[in-house]
Amino acid sequence: MSQYKSNREFYPDWEAGMVAANISKKIPQYSDNELYRLFRHGIKKDGTGLWAMPAGMFVNFSEKDIYRLIAHLRTIPPVENKLPTTAFSFTGRLKILSGEYISEVAMARRDVKKFNYPDNPTVVQKGNYLVITTCTECHGYDLRGLYGSPPLLIAKAYKEMNL
Ligand code: HEC
Repeated sequence: MSQYKSNREFYPDWEAGMVAANISKKIPQYSDNELYRLFRHGIKKDGTGLWAMPAGMFVNFSEKDIYRLIAHLRTIPPVENKLPTTAFSFTGRLKILSGEYISEVAMARRDVKKFNYPDNPTVVQKGNYLVITTCTECHGYDLRGLYGSPPLLIAKAYKEMNL
């Protein structure tokens, strides 16, 4: 099985080569508490915040779902995969220093509202949970649209059957 060994590079033309980690090798280095902190707060084992990974979607995972994730991730065998290292260019660093580029975790702290998963969620609350944990990366934490993704208010224009 060769799962989760990564093949994605982020921001290739964005003054950084950010490489999604080979998590099959990283996960075994994390304790359960460290994995919990990664998902709940977007903080890596080394204490720094996540870039590129949409941390803002995951900070609202329910407690149960975080433990389910960890349980599954613990079953993944480590797989070797040679990856380029992440590097920010000089101009990339300048844009970070000037605040033009911010990390995902900083964006999450700024924009994400806390969602308290109810004990007995209604169908609509479950749907709300799915949207904030799977759609907001692209459509924006307030669903008003981001980059190339339209505002999700557009969904209101769809008839139920088309969704
Ligand atoms: C990886 C990014 C990404 C994620 C995650 C994502 N979307 Fe989108 N979505 C897009 C983009 C980009 C478009 C515009 C696509 C197009 O116009 O063909 C879009 C378009 C839409 C549209 C409008 C389609 C139209 O008629 O113009 C709806 C509705 C939508 N998404 C709903 C969702 C929902 C609900 C979720 C979560 C379950 C979701 N999206 C998750 C990127 C994303």
